[in-house]
Amino acid sequence: MIYPIVVYGSPMLRRVSTEIDKNYSDLEKLIEDMFETMQVSDGVGLAAPQIGKSIRIFVIDATPMADDDPSLEGFKKAFINPRIVDENGEPWAYVEGCLSLPNIREEVKRPENVRIQYYDADFNFHDETFDGIKSRIIQHEYDHLEGVLFIDKIAPLKRKLLKGKLNDIAKGKAQTSYRTKIIK
Ligand code: CO
Repeated sequence: MIYPIVVYGSPMLRRVSTEIDKNYSDLEKLIEDMFETMQVSDGVGLAAPQIGKSIRIFVIDATPMADDDPSLEGFKKAFINPRIVDENGEPWAYVEGCLSLPNIREEVKRPENVRIQYYDADFNFHDETFDGIKSRIIQHEYDHLEGVLFIDKIAPLKRKLLKGKLNDIAKGKAQTSYRTKIIK
């Protein structure tokens, strides 16, 4: 099932999500649907709040970026109940986009490395460190579970310049190739 993407202007995107347990109903189906929704929307990451669920899950499939960065080959995972336990390294800038912020792309600075503890789709525990684009995508998706969007991390002046675009998104006026929804 393909979900509409919850976009900017929805208070849902500003909530801190809650953990789930392994008996969460239809978890396997939910993860499958999240991958499908992300792929048809041309995203490389999707967090549960973006489909209207305030729970701690995100999925990543960076394989479409593997042509430019071979290290991303096969980087396709679900992260359940993730906890970032450490971030370090020199912050670096990279242009980010977000399915919940259609037609907005801005440079965001984030630390180089992330150490994260999480459960996979089979509820096996992992404690891993990632760097480069992998770390970047994880940090972006993790922020969604904390109610944070990448526009919160850009200079206030740049954010001011986006005001018109953001208002349009919040009014449901943004042009997208995928279905969107505002949840009040
Ligand atoms: Co996003």
